[in-house]
Amino acid sequence: MQLEHALVLETVRVTERAALAASHWVGKGNEHEIDQAATQAMRDALNTLDIEGTVVIGEGEMDEAPMLYIGEKMGSGARHVIIDIAVDPVEGTTVAAKGLPNGIAVIAIAESGGLLHAPDIYMDKLVVPPPAAGRVHLDWPIEKNLVALAASLERSIEDLTIVILDRERHKALIEAVRDAGARVKLIAQGDVIASLAAAMRGTGVHAVMGWGGAPEGVITAAALKCLGGEIQGRFMPESDEQRQRLRGMGLDETQVYSTADLAPGQQLVFSATGLTDGELLQGVRRFGGGARTHSVVMGYASRVVRFIDSVHLEEDGARVTVRA
Ligand code: FBP
Repeated sequence: MQLEHALVLETVRVTERAALAASHWVGKGNEHEIDQAATQAMRDALNTLDIEGTVVIGEGEMDEAPMLYIGEKMGSGARHVIIDIAVDPVEGTTVAAKGLPNGIAVIAIAESGGLLHAPDIYMDKLVVPPPAAGRVHLDWPIEKNLVALAASLERSIEDLTIVILDRERHKALIEAVRDAGARVKLIAQGDVIASLAAAMRGTGVHAVMGWGGAPEGVITAAALKCLGGEIQGRFMPESDEQRQRLRGMGLDETQVYSTADLAPGQQLVFSATGLTDGELLQGVRRFGGGARTHSVVMGYASRVVRFIDSVHLEEDGARVTVRA
């Protein structure tokens, strides 16, 4: 429980800072600026923490990312708290730049070795809520998984909604889900927040399927482990270079990785702050002299999921509005 006790609120501050910084660029059509602002803010916030952190999933390799690169050391080091850090300063850069829903700032932390070091390639994913954990398999035909999911949730296939990234590569998957009788909800970006929604009741989302980023798969696994749902993922290298890289990292393209494989940590903490409005989180709302943020933070050790509504007063005289 130690790491979570020490850092649960700190991780919320990190995603809040990133979302607040990026919010100035929401709807302005500039993906680079939105990502840059969030990355800088996230890095500054992490560096104020009394940790010895290492970025294991970040903005890229050292030679391609000036900040939050893989291997970058974070924190003041004042206390001997050694952690691994997985970040996506803005998940959904394009949607946020367009002012569209489901942009978030997100981080997962764990004790050293608690998060799989995954390369930035695609991963085929299957994400299901707690009742369906252990009752589906990525290798099964789509219909078989939908039958199992429907049975787990005690509803008919017709009453399932499956989130899939709206991509040409998913044409056959989308058809298969629809042919089996389920509904498809296509999203432009953001399979992490969609996966959180699938793991929670009352969101109207029952599973996430299809190829997304492997780093996002690890971040999702941290959250799913806290929530009790399940992610299964298989790395999908698209070139010999990616294949070699994968093998070089000791990873296997034939293996289906489980939630515990992707996030083996026992002291996981996950935090996400809404940048633009979504089903689960409201986006940053700026008002004269300040802003309001909405976050979700959770820990594996405590199994507590907190939704945090914060008002950030940035100017003297700004006032807190009581109702959201
Ligand atoms: P960004 O982090 O670049 O904003 O993209 C996020 C995302 O939409 C993920 O949610 C998803 O896993 C991945 O990108 C999908 O990649 P692609 O856009 O290449 O299909």
